[in-house]
Amino acid sequence: MILGIETSCDETSVALLERDGNVRVNLIASQIERHQPFGGVVPEIASREHLQHLFPLVRRALDDAHAQWGDVESIAVTSRPGLIGALLVGVAGAQGLSYGLGIPLVAINHLEGHIFSPYLQREGPAIPLPQRFISLVISGGHSSIYDVQNGQATMLNRTRDDAIGETFDKVAKFIGLPYPGGPQIEKHARAGSRDPRRFPFAVPHFKDDSLDFSYSGIKAGAIRLAREHHVRADGDAKLLADFCATFQDALFAQLFDRLDAVWSRLDGPKPAEVAIAGGVAANGVLRERISEWGKTRGVVVRLPEKRYCTDNAAMIAFAGLQRQADAADPRRAVARSRIA
Ligand code: KG4
Ligand code: ZN
Repeated sequence: MILGIETSCDETSVALLERDGNVRVNLIASQIERHQPFGGVVPEIASREHLQHLFPLVRRALDDAHAQWGDVESIAVTSRPGLIGALLVGVAGAQGLSYGLGIPLVAINHLEGHIFSPYLQREGPAIPLPQRFISLVISGGHSSIYDVQNGQATMLNRTRDDAIGETFDKVAKFIGLPYPGGPQIEKHARAGSRDPRRFPFAVPHFKDDSLDFSYSGIKAGAIRLAREHHVRADGDAKLLADFCATFQDALFAQLFDRLDAVWSRLDGPKPAEVAIAGGVAANGVLRERISEWGKTRGVVVRLPEKRYCTDNAAMIAFAGLQRQADAADPRRAVARSRIA
């Protein structure tokens, strides 16, 4: 089995996967409650919580899998990008285990973890990775579309400012909804009717024809509209629902605008699969809409299991299985806040 460790943000997670990608255990100690009073993740608190939870979680993962240390053949740990203090806890822990057990360590790019996550199954071996697929990574820290060929991801666009999940979170915070805001907005949007004349949002386009995302305009617009219309978490419920529905639509409208543009600009035969990943991929409205998008184009759409959307170690271990060749001297696993 491969042991996966994820500590890049506010979730301590440990997983054990078999070589075929079968997830034996995926444990997550969420710190959300510790950060909630601050309306966002406090890096110092995150590091301390990881320190406290990491090894007990590793121990429990082995117990839950009825496994021994001898069953662990290699370790995969998120080394980048993320909160540096948080990453260091996971990397140092993984280095210690790798030295102590004399087994290889693979340093994983968190984004690759998300990219491959839609191929993990709830039960049984992972779905074989296609030779090529388009991946939308949409989370609290990232919004990018990738062209993934033979396991190598090429970034086709990125956000110039806020990530889509961050936009959900910041607007939710402004109107007084608890952190994280994405699931809250989704919940309230369910009862809402959409009226783009009442809450006008536009899909931004760049003069240079760039496919990049930009969410700061929608964020500023949403905050202005919420202020003007007195949209509050503890205010008029119908107003809140309508606002959330229209705002959520606007965020997704930009996603599909860019996906369409990427799709039409792809050279040669189109990939057979499109996958979404990251926390925002848990959104039910988006899952329905992208499934429709795929149906009209005859493209297979891969939706990650909800448990593998937000940060988890199963996806890191799975990426580790794809990257076994990169396993190296544990001293070479260096934590970095940025990707490069
Ligand atoms: O992947 P993730 O756990 O962390 C990062 O790597 O950033 O994503 C967390 C993000 C948060 O911004 C959260 O609001 C968003 O995912 N999110 C959602 C939903 N569930 C989580 N956004 C929209 N709808 C949801 N159901
Ligand atoms: Zn993530």
